[in-house]
Amino acid sequence: MEIFSHPEEYSRGCAALREQGSLGFVPTMGALHAGHVALVRAAKARDRFCAVSIFVNPTQFGPNEDLARYPRQLEGDCELLRSEGVDLVLAPEAAAVYPNGFATFVEVEGLGGRLCGASRPGHFRGVATVVLKLLLWTLPSRAYFGQKDAAQLAVIRRMVRDLNVPVEIVACPIVRDADGLALSSRNAYLKAEERRAALAIPASLREIEDAVRSGERRLGMLLGNARARIAETPGLKLDYYEAVDPDTLLPRQELAAPALFAVAAFCGKTRLIDNWVFEG
Ligand code: PAJ
Repeated sequence: MEIFSHPEEYSRGCAALREQGSLGFVPTMGALHAGHVALVRAAKARDRFCAVSIFVNPTQFGPNEDLARYPRQLEGDCELLRSEGVDLVLAPEAAAVYPNGFATFVEVEGLGGRLCGASRPGHFRGVATVVLKLLLWTLPSRAYFGQKDAAQLAVIRRMVRDLNVPVEIVACPIVRDADGLALSSRNAYLKAEERRAALAIPASLREIEDAVRSGERRLGMLLGNARARIAETPGLKLDYYEAVDPDTLLPRQELAAPALFAVAAFCGKTRLIDNWVFEG
């Protein structure tokens, strides 16, 4: 496995691999867990080679967010990626991604301001910009993203369509811990009692799923109960709980498939997100 900090050298490494077979790409911010590993395994299953980026992207963090304390563990991450058979890793410094004079950003209008984009202004502008740059350095056949970040997935799909980026976007299912909490690098922030409170998030989504499967179709009822469950859990503060079209992220007026039930809540200072898609 080769580890690059210079994007241009990494780019040459990618080009050499692409001559021999298809290249899959998994962008990450590191502090890797089984959710990231699932993306790597999906890439390895479909593509001959696999490239991974590890970059805590400053432009997608707001001024009062956790950029400075976001977990960084490059050595351990690289160990893990090596054991998974990854071929190339790009781990650049911020100055290599955003050199002096950098002035161009990708704005996905509409979509980029919904769900997490509404509570984190500028977040998806930073995500779209860095993902496009990473895709252009890598030029993979396919790029693999987690369904966990459902709004991010919608933004990336829209950008790739709108800007004719020649890559196939593959979505992979949410990986959860045994207790139901969706894996996230930010779970490392949670104290034991916060983590117990956080379980109300996946539990509320399971309640929605159970109710829908038993025939409940009233969105107001489903969302009202779910919001109340989060609001009534000590230690949790609801950011949003919505049912939206998974492509446009616009609110659904009534339950129709597919519907993305998406939740974001603060657990102490830690912002957690999760979702469930009603497929019909
Ligand atoms: P990061 O949070 O590190 O996530 C990298 C990828 O792993 C994303 O596609 C995310 O959806 C996926 N992922 C995270 N937790 C997951 C889980 N529990 N199950 C399945 N997939 C999971 O998302 C980002 O980084 C950044 O915004 C990035 C796209 C790298 C741009 O900076």
